[in-house]
Amino acid sequence: MPIVTYILRDGERRAIDVSAGTSVMEAAIHNNVRGIDAECGGCLSCATCHVYIDESSTAQLPLPDESELQLLDGVAAGRRPESRLSCQLVVMPAMNGLVVHIPPRQG
Ligand code: FES
Repeated sequence: MPIVTYILRDGERRAIDVSAGTSVMEAAIHNNVRGIDAECGGCLSCATCHVYIDESSTAQLPLPDESELQLLDGVAAGRRPESRLSCQLVVMPAMNGLVVHIPPRQG
């Protein structure tokens, strides 16, 4: 299974085997990764699943669609070029090795 690594606010790294078809947000929630709130449950209306993609990550990611790009304008911690909404990142084998940072706040 692809491995996704979450870097928490305190610097702790959590490497998790994620089944293909599971979103980065869902894997975080199911594995008690702190800092991804996902208040809307993944229906693309809250932006509290915001993550920053690590610059060293070589995982191939789908491009964000227009809805994700619009919602990223409202993230609490500040949008960066590497910002993504983790509910929109559905894990596929090509995403093995993905590294994401949990932002300092979600709301
Ligand atoms: S969980 Fe609400 S936008 Fe991702």
